[in-house]
Amino acid sequence: MLCGKKVFLRAVELEDARIISAWLNDRKCTEHLDIIYPISKRYADSFVLEADEDRYKKVFIIDSPEHRPIGLFIIDKIRWEYRNCEIGIAIYDKNQRGKGYGRDAVETALDFIFNSMNMHLVYLHVEEDNGPAINLYKSLGFEVEGLLKDRTFKEGKYKNVYVMSKTKGGMNI
Ligand SMILES: CC(C)(COP(=O)(O)OP(=O)(O)OC[C@H]1O[C@@H](n2cnc3c(N)ncnc32)[C@H](O)[C@@H]1OP(=O)(O)O)[C@@H](O)C(=O)NCCC(=O)NCCS
Repeated sequence: MLCGKKVFLRAVELEDARIISAWLNDRKCTEHLDIIYPISKRYADSFVLEADEDRYKKVFIIDSPEHRPIGLFIIDKIRWEYRNCEIGIAIYDKNQRGKGYGRDAVETALDFIFNSMNMHLVYLHVEEDNGPAINLYKSLGFEVEGLLKDRTFKEGKYKNVYVMSKTKGGMNI
């Protein structure tokens, strides 16, 4: 388990499949995420079962200070040769947003990614209108690498998506 100042990042357990399924099926929680179709229980089960086995992906449950699951942190597309990876975070429980948990989870994960996994560069994709997430990433030293045009389509409108990245040398946490 990774211990932050406020939150904990722990392995995903079989028992988490139900809450993950509830989160991913709640349109209010997944506004800025790349989730289009309803998620089946079978998908949630295999997501959990496969989480341990994938060499190119690491999934963490974000637990609140009271050890209640509030979100997911995913390290994906790990390129061990190039030492880069993509990250994604969501605090699905909306009542738990704005309390510093997202920042603490990303800071804790970045420390792990750079100093334990020995990655060189971390990148992410974020929709242009996702102000809270962009503010968070910029404040942690992520820089915009480029803008992908019309990359997602939500409620009848295309949205542009920023690619942002940060290298270990550029770490300011
Ligand atoms: C983005 C997200 C992870 C931030 O987590 P959080 O716990 O709510 O954020 P924190 O309380 O840790 O705040 C961290 C920083 O984010 C920014 N931020 C958070 N909420 C914000 C808001 N409503 N408006 C503007 N900036 C905001 C601020 O820069 C803040 O720093 P500050 O407190 O020093 O001002 C969370 O809002 C979330 O899960 N959103 C939905 C999923 C998502 O968009 N994921 C990112 C996909 S790329």
